[in-house]
Amino acid sequence: MPTKSLERWNRDGDYLKAQFEAAGYQAQLKYSDNDSNQQNNDIQAMIADGVSVLIIAAIDGEALTQTLADAKDAGIPVIAYDRLIMNTDAVSYYVSFDNYTVGVLQGEFVKKAMDLDNAAGPFNIEFTAGDPADNNAGYFFNGAFDTLKPYIDSGKLVVPSGKTTFEQVATPNWSTDTALENMQNTLASYYSDGTVLDIALCSNDSTALGVAQAITSDYAGSNKPVVTGQDGDIANLRNIVDEIQTMTVYKNVSDEAGVTLEVAKALLEGKSPDASLLDSLSADAAYDTSSYDNGTGIIPSYLLVPWTVTKDNLQDLVDTGLYKWDANNQYLESAT
Ligand code: GAL
Repeated sequence: MPTKSLERWNRDGDYLKAQFEAAGYQAQLKYSDNDSNQQNNDIQAMIADGVSVLIIAAIDGEALTQTLADAKDAGIPVIAYDRLIMNTDAVSYYVSFDNYTVGVLQGEFVKKAMDLDNAAGPFNIEFTAGDPADNNAGYFFNGAFDTLKPYIDSGKLVVPSGKTTFEQVATPNWSTDTALENMQNTLASYYSDGTVLDIALCSNDSTALGVAQAITSDYAGSNKPVVTGQDGDIANLRNIVDEIQTMTVYKNVSDEAGVTLEVAKALLEGKSPDASLLDSLSADAAYDTSSYDNGTGIIPSYLLVPWTVTKDNLQDLVDTGLYKWDANNQYLESAT
């Protein structure tokens, strides 16, 4: 797993370890502090230990090529977990969510919240995207941007900072502090004259946390901008109750771990899982053999379904069994 400093990976690691052990496997779980060199060393150590299969959420999708060539030489299959690993033919399968749809859900939410098809506008929007080293980040940004582009082209949506490319709004390491700083600079440069900020389109919760903090501390406007996110992190769910953040795209990572277990089991039984595996999955997923080319060819993928959470359907998270209401029934806590 990439790091413990981004909340969701703690959940992923726990669910993967628990589910593999419950299925009778020994599970080695390592976090690599968002340091790609350390992740290479951690994987090399697992290869030296003779593990049977590698499940990897890459920190930098381009930085594991040599290490995974060693895994292949050792006959160890590799499953790319959540983030695709690039430029290596050592990856057998990819398990993730439909990453482009995550962005589309954020864009669709903005369209509805601002009634973009009917309202006169114009409305001001700023984008905050993810880590350029993370292959997912582009899909999230493109899904949202492609959905809103017609309104940017028509002038109904305006980007006062002019930052409309992924490179201009990317946030290394998905860092909350960097997102905070970037938004503070944008507010100071383009909004200190009373310009209204209507929408802050953030690709995930760790960046949304920083952006929401900047809006709370540095935005002079009296309106509450729409703030998007992804992951269902506890602090962000709290902000959704307090209307500091407006929505998050939820991805049930316990299900993601479950699908990964089924793929690994099939591989360890010498099988080549395909669409027929879907029948044995408890989670809703699609088998995709066209969307994800890692530079060495298409990687067969199992893609789970993300969905939108606002303050009106927080109970749906409790119904997953992974969250519970706090003692005052006001905020959500982790139930695991
Ligand atoms: C992405 C992941 C997101 C988000 C982000 C930061 O790869 O798909 O869910 O958590 O990393 O950790």
